[in-house]
Amino acid sequence: MRRRSVGQQVVDFVTFPVRALALHGHEDRFGLTSLPSERFDYVSRHVLGYCLDVGCGRQNRFVLEFLDGNGKGIDVYPYEGLTEENLVEDMTHFPFPCETFRSVTFIANLNHIPRSARDAELAEAYRVLVPGGNIIVTMGRPLVEILVHKLVAFYDRRLHTDFDVDGERGMDDQEDYYVTRDEIVQRLTAAGFRDIARQSFRTQWCLNQLFVGWKPRAEPAANV
Ligand SMILES: C[S@@+](CC[C@H](N)C(=O)[O-])C[C@H]1O[C@@H](n2cnc3c(N)ncnc32)[C@H](O)[C@@H]1O
Repeated sequence: MRRRSVGQQVVDFVTFPVRALALHGHEDRFGLTSLPSERFDYVSRHVLGYCLDVGCGRQNRFVLEFLDGNGKGIDVYPYEGLTEENLVEDMTHFPFPCETFRSVTFIANLNHIPRSARDAELAEAYRVLVPGGNIIVTMGRPLVEILVHKLVAFYDRRLHTDFDVDGERGMDDQEDYYVTRDEIVQRLTAAGFRDIARQSFRTQWCLNQLFVGWKPRAEPAANV
């Protein structure tokens, strides 16, 4: 399981502007942590056990590298490194029984879920979680998400990099650059999650953040 040391976090904090300009790919370089590795590191610290990573992206990296394979990654597009097992065409129905996972993650992808499907996917996350399980959602600050999407598209066009996984897939009209904090809290609450808390990514100068919500444990039956 990969975890950044405190020393690495200090280096990452100091070098954030450089990393924000140069490290959008998955590889860590020059002793610095890439932005994807960094968000995986933050999220992994909240995962309770067997985990479903929704919108896992290329190589199913979060589950394989950051959770030692203890989970499933699913996505709508056959990215490099994914198999049939990872592909789910209709994400409004997850192919798993109720109460299968202890955590469900939506990492940098809620904005890429078509608006009309967001509530249905979060309801599926709730269904497949055990009572007492948690959901973890990451989303950058709005202005940052706009800048990052534009920067990555510019690099891919001009420098022939291939950072933009969503460009590779082809985006839907109902996707957005970002989802606001209010929308995340409102949709998580509507799906049934409670005690929603927010954590900023300090080593990204608090420009990125994650939200953790909880599926309540079953209420004890009332005495009659
Ligand atoms: C910015 S990428 C993030 C990938 C990965 N989670 C990461 O953090 O590197 C957004 C991901 O959302 C996925 N996605 C697109 N439509 C989706 C949907 N309806 N439900 C879940 N994920 C979806 C994309 O295929 C893509 O892998």
